Amino acid sequence: MKNGYFGRFGGRFVPELLMPPLLELEQAMETILPSPEFQAELDDLLRNYAGRATPLTFCPNLSQKLRFELWLKREDLLHTGAHKVNNTLGQALLAKKMGKTSLIAETGAGQHGVATAAAAARLGLDCTIYMGAEDVERQSANVRRMRLLGARVVAVESGSRTLKDAINAALRTWISSQATTHYCFGTAAGPAPFPRLVREFQSVIGREARAQMLERTGALPDYVVAAVGGGSNAIGMFHAFVPDESVTIIGVEAGGTGEPGCLNSAAINLGRPGVLHGEYTMLLQDDDGQILPSGSISAGLDYPGVGPEHVYLHDIGRVDYTIACDHEALNAFQALCREEGILPALESSHAVGYVLSHADRFRPGSRVLANLSGRGDKDMDIIEHALGL
Ligand SMILES: Cc1ncc(COP(=O)(O)O)c(C=O)c1O
Repeated sequence: MKNGYFGRFGGRFVPELLMPPLLELEQAMETILPSPEFQAELDDLLRNYAGRATPLTFCPNLSQKLRFELWLKREDLLHTGAHKVNNTLGQALLAKKMGKTSLIAETGAGQHGVATAAAAARLGLDCTIYMGAEDVERQSANVRRMRLLGARVVAVESGSRTLKDAINAALRTWISSQATTHYCFGTAAGPAPFPRLVREFQSVIGREARAQMLERTGALPDYVVAAVGGGSNAIGMFHAFVPDESVTIIGVEAGGTGEPGCLNSAAINLGRPGVLHGEYTMLLQDDDGQILPSGSISAGLDYPGVGPEHVYLHDIGRVDYTIACDHEALNAFQALCREEGILPALESSHAVGYVLSHADRFRPGSRVLANLSGRGDKDMDIIEHALGL
């Protein structure tokens, strides 16, 4: 990683007016973030407020059927119900130390919005969340949570009324409010330094999981799997395992319904390079470079781009990026509910869905570690509707 680039990807393609807050943030990453005081305060918040370390759960019933061991890193058990809070506590604390009084953030599934609202309340910061109007409708329970936690929720009506448009609205607002406001970006994408900053706060997932696997089994996992939206839970899980050559790493993008030509969110598999939201990355786009609408049953994966470090890891062949479709996620959702008593988020269900549908890819007797990035309560209406319940 050099100058905000991962290989050819990343960078900082923003209007001049956004350069000052990005450079200020980069400076804070060099000075405030590594200090022992900051690290101790963050560690305390993660442990005693958010509930780290999260458990590593062995799935005995599914493992018996699959003939390999399935292990889950339980980020669903964190406060606010997903991995997002690792990042929002980190960024909110950093913003406070930088002297900011307000947070703004975008949200898709609402998990990042809820986690930002909670971190803002805890640290005494004002909070405004931008959310595509379509997501406001399909994730209404999280909108209510954000409001109860004291955040203002702005429904963004422009474009496809989803995450992409919420990010545009938040970036525009940051231009005029940068003196007092930090943009708490929700995934390992966007202009530098966000991909590195978010990875920094999420890499606790893989560090913990690696140590827990070694402690519980005496060995590293053979496979590590995570769902990729913008890429924060996946890079958080993968980072510690990248140097471990024996570990096969698999990122799972959302393929939508799987019908030919359907809307999807598989930017690495089906996109082409281009610039969106301040970074050079793989994007779903048409022949004229116009961003195509993305689509997935899971709102949190519904994004036409992806973080630059994933594109780099794909380019160098270190991580295999694959696709799971809506029905595979629903199948995994039901399997985890009924076989293991776990109600996973639809995003995380894509990671497990890939494992269940491609079970013959995994060596008998091997250990497969999947990141369960969040819990599924927010998705109940969508799932019941999809399953005709
Ligand atoms: C539970 C959960 N997992 C995964 C994601 C996808 O985001 P990312 O790729 O940044 O982890 C989201 C996004 O909202 C989410 O809520």
